[in-house]
Order: sequence, then C-alpha cells, then structure tokens
Amino acid sequence: MRSTERALAQVPFLAPLSATERRRIADHADLATFPAGTTIVARGDPGRTLYVILKGRVRVLHSAKAGDAVPLAEFGPGEFFGEMALLEDAPRSADVVAVSPTTCALLTWEVFQRDLLGNPGVATALLTALSRRLRALSELHERPQVETKAPPKERARRILREGEAAMVADIRGTLVVKEHNHFTLCDRDGNCPIGNRAGLGLHLGDTRHLSGYELSLGRVQPVVLVSSARLGYAAEQQLTNRDLTARGRTVRKETLLVSRERLAHDSGFYEEITVRNFNPFPVAIDLQLRFAADFADIFEVRGVSRDRRGAHRRPVIAGDTVTLIYDGLDGRRYQTALTFTPRPTRLGSTTMAHRAQVAAFDECVLRVRVTARVTAAEDQGDDDDGRMPEETPPAAAQMTRAHHSYEEWQAAATRVVTGSELFNATIDRSLADLRLLVNRLDDQPYFAAGIPWFAALFGRDSLITALLTLAWNPDLSAGTLRLLARYQGTRDDAWRDEEPGKILHELRTGELARTGRVPHTPYYGSIDATPLFLVLAAAYHDWTGDDALVRELLPHLEAALDWCHRWGDRDGDGYIEYARRSGLGLANQGWRDSGDGVLFQDGRLPDPPIALVEVQGYLYAAYRGMARLLRAIGDGNDGRASELDERAASLKERFNRDFWMPERGFYALGLDGRKGPIDAITSNPGQALWTDIVDEARAPAVAARLLSDDLFSGWGVRTLGRSAAAYNPLGYHLGTIWPHDNALIAAGLRRYGFAPEANRILAALYDAAQEFPDYRLPELFAGIARTSYGVPIGYPVACSPQAWAAATLPYLLTETLGLRPTGGGTVLDVVHPILPSWLGDVRVRGLRVGETRLELRFRQPETPDEPARVTVENQVGPAVEVRVVARQDQSASAHA
Ligand code: CMP
Repeated sequence: MRSTERALAQVPFLAPLSATERRRIADHADLATFPAGTTIVARGDPGRTLYVILKGRVRVLHSAKAGDAVPLAEFGPGEFFGEMALLEDAPRSADVVAVSPTTCALLTWEVFQRDLLGNPGVATALLTALSRRLRALSELHERPQVETKAPPKERARRILREGEAAMVADIRGTLVVKEHNHFTLCDRDGNCPIGNRAGLGLHLGDTRHLSGYELSLGRVQPVVLVSSARLGYAAEQQLTNRDLTARGRTVRKETLLVSRERLAHDSGFYEEITVRNFNPFPVAIDLQLRFAADFADIFEVRGVSRDRRGAHRRPVIAGDTVTLIYDGLDGRRYQTALTFTPRPTRLGSTTMAHRAQVAAFDECVLRVRVTARVTAAEDQGDDDDGRMPEETPPAAAQMTRAHHSYEEWQAAATRVVTGSELFNATIDRSLADLRLLVNRLDDQPYFAAGIPWFAALFGRDSLITALLTLAWNPDLSAGTLRLLARYQGTRDDAWRDEEPGKILHELRTGELARTGRVPHTPYYGSIDATPLFLVLAAAYHDWTGDDALVRELLPHLEAALDWCHRWGDRDGDGYIEYARRSGLGLANQGWRDSGDGVLFQDGRLPDPPIALVEVQGYLYAAYRGMARLLRAIGDGNDGRASELDERAASLKERFNRDFWMPERGFYALGLDGRKGPIDAITSNPGQALWTDIVDEARAPAVAARLLSDDLFSGWGVRTLGRSAAAYNPLGYHLGTIWPHDNALIAAGLRRYGFAPEANRILAALYDAAQEFPDYRLPELFAGIARTSYGVPIGYPVACSPQAWAAATLPYLLTETLGLRPTGGGTVLDVVHPILPSWLGDVRVRGLRVGETRLELRFRQPETPDEPARVTVENQVGPAVEVRVVARQDQSASAHA
C-alpha cells in the first residue's frame, strides 16, 4: 500500500488530504493496469468506481453510434475519470479507452462519497476540474463538426432552385415503413434520434408528425442483432442488452432479448416491444421511450429555414395517451397521439417509462400506437381538448389487411417467372416496392416519387413509373392520368411556372405550400411532364383499349397538345424549351434538374431557354402517340392525326440536323438560348433512342458511345461522361448512375436492334441491385468504375425506394421479352426477344392486353444470340392476335 500511497501523494486534486486520510484511501484502493486499446469504462455501463490515473493516458470518446466516435478529452497521470456516474448514480456517460498502457488507482463509491466529497478541499478541486472540462466541451463546438450548415439563403436556393434533395449528410442504412400517405424512417435500431436532421421520424403528407422516438433499457441503448423492413409495411428489430444494473443487481449483457415489431396502420404505426428474460432470476425491466414532434414541413426537414411558425400547444396527457399538438399557420391542427398498453408507470409530455418485474425465462410486452392526424380549421370544435378519437383497427387485423393488400397487388400484376431464382426475387422486391410507393390523392392512386424526400405527386416521376409498369399493371396509369388531368394548368401564373394545359411538376400540401412560402400548390416547372402525359395516355390505350378513359381525358389531352405548341415552344422554332419564371422555381426543368445538371463539356453553364435532347424525343413520341390514339377512337379524327404525324416527321428531320454534333459523333445534350449545341457528353441521347427520334444511321455511333468507358461504368450508363470537365462520380447529375435513365436507354437500344448492348445494361443493373440492401435499386448511385471497387457505391442521400428505380428491372425484363401491344389492346407484337442466357426460360402469366389475360412462354434458342422461341400457352378473354416479329418488320407499333 505504501507505493499506492506515494503515488496518490502526487495527485494534485488529492493534495488537500492529510497523510492519515490519504493512507486510509490507499488502504481501500485497488491498482489495475490496462493494455493500450482497452475500453476501461463503456458508455451505458453502470459505474461504481472512480479511476485515478497513476501512469499512462486515456481518451474519452462519445459514441452515439458505432463507428461514429467523437473524442471529448484526454487525461494523463494525476487526473481522474469516472466521477460522473458516481455523482449522478447513473450509467457511464462516455467510453474511456487506454491510449497507452495505463495504471489506475480504483476508488470505490463509498470512498468517493465519504472521503473525497466529504473533504471540502478535495470537493472544490473536483468542482474546478469539472468546470474546466465543461469549458473544454464548449470549445469543442469550435472544432470541425460532423455536419455543417450552410446559411439559410443558400439552403433555400439549393433546394428550391437547384433541385437538391436535402442538406443532409447520409441516410443510407435507414429503414422505411410506409402505407398510404404516411411513412416512418428510422435507424437500424428502430429509433428516430431526437433532434436528428436526417429526416427520420413519422411523416404524414408533407409534415413530420414524430421527429424523435428513442427506446432504451433504463438509459442504456440496446445492441442491434438484426434489423429489417423487408415487408414494406412492417419492420422488425431484435436487440440485446449491454451490462445493466437493475435494483442493485448486475444483469449481464446478452441475457435479455428485446424484440421491436412495427406495423404501419392507416395513419401511423403500432409497435410491440417484447423483452424476454433469459436469466435464471427475475429482472426489473425499465423500458424508457423519449419522443418529440417538431411538426416540420418537408421543405424544412430538407433544409429550408422559416422565420415564422405556428404554435406548439401544451401536450395533453390523459390516462394511457399523450397527444402532441401543433396549430399551423395554415389554420390546420396537426396532432400526434401515442397510446401505451399497459398503462405506463410514468407518462410525461416527452417521456414514458414502463417498469415491470419479469420472472426468470419470462417476458413482458409494451404496445405503442402512434396516430397522426390533421384537421382543417372548420372541423376544430371550440372545446377541442386536443385529444383524438380512437380510430385504428386492432394490430392483428391491420397486419392481415396489409398482408392481403400486398398479395392482391401481386395477384393483379403480371407474373413473370424466369429460370433465375435470384432474378425472380429481385423482381418480387421491385413489385413490393411499387406497392409501397402507392399514395392516394382525392380518390385516385398514384406512385409517389420516392422516400423520404419526394413522397408526393410528381408529374415526370409518376408518369415515367406508370409507363415502365404498363405491362405489369395498367391500373396505376389510369389513376395517374386522371390526377394529372385534374391538376392541369389553367392560367398563366409566373410564381408557379403555370401555363394553360401544362402538366404539374410537383404537388405539395404541407404548411409551407399552403401558406405560400413555396410555390408547390402545385408547382409546374417541368418541361417534359406535358409531353410524357400524352405519351402515357397513348401507351395506356395501346395496352388496355380503354376508350372510355381516353374520351374522358380528351379535352385535357388537347389542352396538353396545345401547351406543347404554344407555351412549350414560345419562340416557334418547333422545339420545346424551358426558362424559369418563378423566383423560387427550378433553374433546370428536365429530369436533370440540379442547378449544374445541364452544362457544356468544358463545364460552363448555358443560358436559357434550353431545349433538351430527350425532351424533343418525348415530344416526337407524344405527337405520334396522339395520332395513333385519335385514329383508334375514330370520331372523324383522321385529319388531325395526319397533321400530328406530319408534325412528328418534320420534328425528327430538324432534330437530326440541329442536335447532331458531327465532330463528336453524338447528339448534344440540348440547344442553349442562342440555339447552339450544349455539347456535354451525357446519357440523355440514350433516352432519345427510346422515343424513335434518332436517325437509324446514327444509332450505331450512339450505342457505341453509350457503352464506351467514358459513359459506361460497368454498373450502368453515367449521367455525364468522364471526359467532361465537370465530371464527378458523386455529382447528382454529373456522373452518377440513375437506374430509370438506364431503363429507358436499354429499351431504346433494343428498339434500334442493339440487344447485346441492352442486355449488358440489364445485367449490370441486376448485378448492382444485388449489392444494395434487400436488392433495392436506389434513386441513383455513384459513377465510380466497376473495376475500381467490387461493389457499386451508394449515393449518401438517395431516396430508396424510388418509384422509377423500383420499376427499372421489371421494365427491362418486359422490354427484353419485346412485348408491344397495338390496335388498342387487340394485337400483341412480340418483337425480337433476345434473352440473356443467364435468364433461362421465361413464363409470363396473367399479362393484360385489352380485356384478355395471356400466358406466354419464352424458351432459350438453340443457337445463342437468336430470338427466344415464343409460344402462347393460354388466353382468357376476347381473342388477342399474338405476332412474333423480327425487329425490321416492326411497323409503327406502340410506344413504350
Ligand atoms: P463517467 O460518466 O462515470 O464515465 C465516463 C467518464 O468520461 C465520465 O465519467 C467522465 O470522467 C469522462 N467524461 C465524460 N464526458 C466528458 C467530457 N465532456 N469531458 C471530459 N471528460 C468527460
């Protein structure tokens, strides 16, 4: 003990002790030596010991998440740590790790309380040390942060005018549970950290109704064992405990199993939390839940700041329920109710505690129901106490309902079974994601563009997704067409970039839109939604022969055509071009809508108005589709149809003259305000192939360029070639890979007879999908070459699932099969189906053409590179003529 006593004599904060007192402490102290790298105390552990460092060095780390440790302090000889747990009788606040071999004197809780705190000199020295640490912590804020925050003006500009998704660092690894118009985004452990800036929480419409939701055992975070949200409408986590003390007894780590099962209901979610005790003795379980609702508008969540907000009302606690309430500036009341069963031990406005004594090998269960609601001013009674009526079905009934609804969705869709089990699983995943993305507006279903940033009606995204899935299920196309017709522009309104006949870009219904802070009610800044609306109407009719819907939509289709002619082409040069009019509108209004997404090869940005290459293709397809449609419904429209065909032919001729860059052997990205080519090498001309506007003679050069090392990464075609000055494999449209872009490009290649090239893209995207969680292709991923890494690199804030990415592989499959209906659902052409050999034989069942359900079989050819052998196995319904045609025989057959 003498040596310990001598060592303690060197410790400054113990200097006020008398020699006798010091000897007594030394008598009670243990010495321990820790090798470098040892975690001496771990965050969340119970703490009964004070450590006085005699030799070596330690580092204090704050580690909220694995791999995300922030260093808080370093201590050396004569300093101490571990006092906080002793002072507060709480778990350890941080990890303390030995940086070099470290020897400490270990003082017990009793010694600390009696001999140290009881000595005024030592207590003062301890307080001084704590004060110094607090000051250092404050200074830590001046060090580089994990996240940076751009000034408010810059954030608003980047999000509203430059189309940036969100000012957030990373959302990969989060889980999505969605049903109808609400979704919950959480971390792998099932939590939504309070104060998170990554969009985690429960969102209903465009409002975040729950921004924090954190479960802990005592105050200790459990460890994640497994975590999945594979079902789409439900998520599950299995977690286990760290070492705990419960009622003075140590509960060793990995002896409790915590199961979290979350299930979406009509307006929120249920969660069932089960704690199983695998100890041979009873354990006092203390489940704690912290929650918060910021009721932020989605634009705020993404990073736009606001100067005024409505009123957060005092939460109402009644029995087993707490209701959080916000009265928006838009006159609506936003509420979130959390109901706990059994009734919690303690329920406050931000916390809940459920304590239970769980017998050996027994379990306890806590059920939580979270319900979000929005009420219009006129529906709010004077005596509204903020509580909400009970209106959700029991969880078991909801589970069955959701399960059946997904089954019905699968049953309504075409069933395609290939020879590759893995490919089939990937297609099933895509179809489930498409079901997950179905939103409702008024009485119509449509595909929301993506989770979490774009869970709304978007003209371009909803239309393209509907187009890509026509062969799988045309019902959503009908809903999409009806909705977009309903919200079609009627006036000339610069603030919303609205013009008569124009199809919307994005419709938002949150507080910022409703109070006019953003122009999204709807916002119309899209150059391509209107022609795509026409393309979808025609393709929908090709598949379904639904004359009734076409007649219903005809005035809207005419208005859209008129917009293309009059407003889309203001300078009358025959091309449609965009120039932003709204102060808060998008600078770029094609699918490359980021601020720097449209550019010259040397990196300069062009002046508007801008005519994009693929958009002229959409226009060409729209003219031809409308001509076909008008002929199909008769009514003496032939003259009008011929006029549209002529317009299309003349557009194609001019396009091939003005957009072709002979010196580069490729099409320009667009024409700028001076009608000169925007010469960057991009993926967009690949989409022009999809619309048939490209001259047959130029297609080989386009195909070769699309699959050159400049554009093709091995995982897909990049948005911008590596040869461009501004190339950045992580730039939103500056070199990343977008699955839907590749879907259209591959379909286009096939239309021009480049089946092997199309199959290369299919294989690349299929391989990429295997590398993402649950085989889910995200909105976009990095354009880094496949040869550099064995896996595709995720884009940190990509939406996932994203509707048109989910539709990519299903569309590539039906395009590979060459399914092309004509004659308003009376004829099905099967055009030159060159199947990759790894796909094996393919069976198609329940394919809807007109009112008929078809069953087809595709067998691999005996000679490679020949078309598959196709047989019609069955037809249910009116006869459909099925013709197997070589590509060159393809007449003016249906588009898409
Ligand atoms: P305790 O919480 O018992 O265990 C971890 C220890 O790390 C803690 O006591 C303090 O001694 C030390 N610690 C925690 N946070 C800080 C900080 N911000 N600065 C310095 N030391 C800290």
